[in-house]
Amino acid sequence: MMETEVTIVILAAGLGTRMKSAKAKVLHSAGGQTLIEHVVDTALALTSPDRVFVVVGHQADQVRQTLSSRGVGFIEQAEQKGTGHALMIGRDVLSKFPGRLLVLYGDGPMITAGTLRRLIKLQRESAAAGALIITRLDDPTGYGRVLDDGGLVQAIVEQKAATPEQLLVKDINSGIYCFSAAEFWENIGQIQPDNPAKEYYLTDIVEILRRAGHSVRSLRVDEPAEVLGINNRIELAQMDALFRKRKVEELMLAGVTVEKPETVTIDSAVRIGMDTVVEPFARILGSTTIGEDCVIGACSILQDSRLGRGVWIGPFTSILSSRIEDRGEVGPYARMRMGAHVESGAHVGNFVELKKTRLGAGSKAMHLAYLGDSDIGEGVNIGAGTITCNYDGSKKHATRIGNGAFIGSNSTLVAPIEIGEGAYLGAGSVITEAVPADALGLGRARQVTKEGWAQKRRKA
Ligand code: UD1
Ligand code: MG
Repeated sequence: MMETEVTIVILAAGLGTRMKSAKAKVLHSAGGQTLIEHVVDTALALTSPDRVFVVVGHQADQVRQTLSSRGVGFIEQAEQKGTGHALMIGRDVLSKFPGRLLVLYGDGPMITAGTLRRLIKLQRESAAAGALIITRLDDPTGYGRVLDDGGLVQAIVEQKAATPEQLLVKDINSGIYCFSAAEFWENIGQIQPDNPAKEYYLTDIVEILRRAGHSVRSLRVDEPAEVLGINNRIELAQMDALFRKRKVEELMLAGVTVEKPETVTIDSAVRIGMDTVVEPFARILGSTTIGEDCVIGACSILQDSRLGRGVWIGPFTSILSSRIEDRGEVGPYARMRMGAHVESGAHVGNFVELKKTRLGAGSKAMHLAYLGDSDIGEGVNIGAGTITCNYDGSKKHATRIGNGAFIGSNSTLVAPIEIGEGAYLGAGSVITEAVPADALGLGRARQVTKEGWAQKRRKA
């Protein structure tokens, strides 16, 4: 397999001045993942983690941490003196690997493994010392211009160093290259910071290789979006929109109905089953998985949550790190968070919040309730306005409600508290002591009725 002899280096040390951010550019997200994660995952589709290296500099620790689960190597570029310099720094580590050296920029997250394979193939089969991906842009401002002669690259000229005539060239350098490792390492030392920015430009390697008698080929791609680098937040938003579009189209082709797809936000790792309907402006994020035949209401937000089959989520509902089992119904205007668990067929209605709470199968909490740190059995009815007082100012306490219990409206359950199976609580009760199974719990003042009182007052 040709892939086994490919070493991949991803340049990600720059701050990205044009982002106007304290955060390193490659740590910004598009499509629900950081830019660097996108690029690394594509690299890992081509070669093993021990042959993937990321050049880090700005916020090196955060970048390492973001990628920690992927097992790739790192090269530290403490001072960023240009893309050429980034590779010079990595020479000791990288030049040990024979074969091909694939160079990617951490700010180009859309590149696919398929296109990279075509690039590697071109370099290998043409026996050129290098090959790079180019594309044509109507507005090439900011990019390196490629002086290309029918597939043979003469030179790359950076925007800052280009003559007015060269600035008219619309073929741009993507920053994605495949080199023959031997020729690359033999010549890299010749890159000089002889340009207006005083940087070591990796792009100078083209002319250097040519002078040494080698050739460099170009692979032209027709869809610029795949190879463009992000330099500012406008481009970041455009890239994000492309990722979203790609994801939504993938889901629609797999049998998910997405209403007004241009309005929904779905992260790349999300999974959704067939015949589920996603209404406008829904945001489905992180590792969320949704079963078949569900409805995700308009303007709902779901993150890192698990939904079974036939689940109905009403509009304007927020579900975070929670689980809704088959045929569960939640919303509109409900909030599930921190491990809320709605079992099969249970219903949660408007203005109800569940936190670290299990709502047993077939139970209902239809209006205006806060249920925190609670274990609620099956077939329980939670009346409107029920509140668990789970916090005493310093500690959280648990509430347990047995199967089939009936919690009257406006009950206040002062935790820790236990309501037995089949028990009843009178509406408006403040419950501070356990109510045993099948008992009635009442905790409210007796009503006083004074006949004729209102009439007398009016007369006075
Ligand atoms: C670069 C190319 C340009 C190309 C464009 C494509 C050079 C000199 N120019 O320009 O021809 O059209 O990308 O997007 O290569 N980096 C480091 N260390 C450094 C400098 C940069 O790791 O010292 C990393 C950055 O973090 C970034 C990538 O290299 O991920 C590209 O750097 P950037 O400053 O965005 O280069 P461009 O000006 O866009
Ligand atoms: Mg760039």
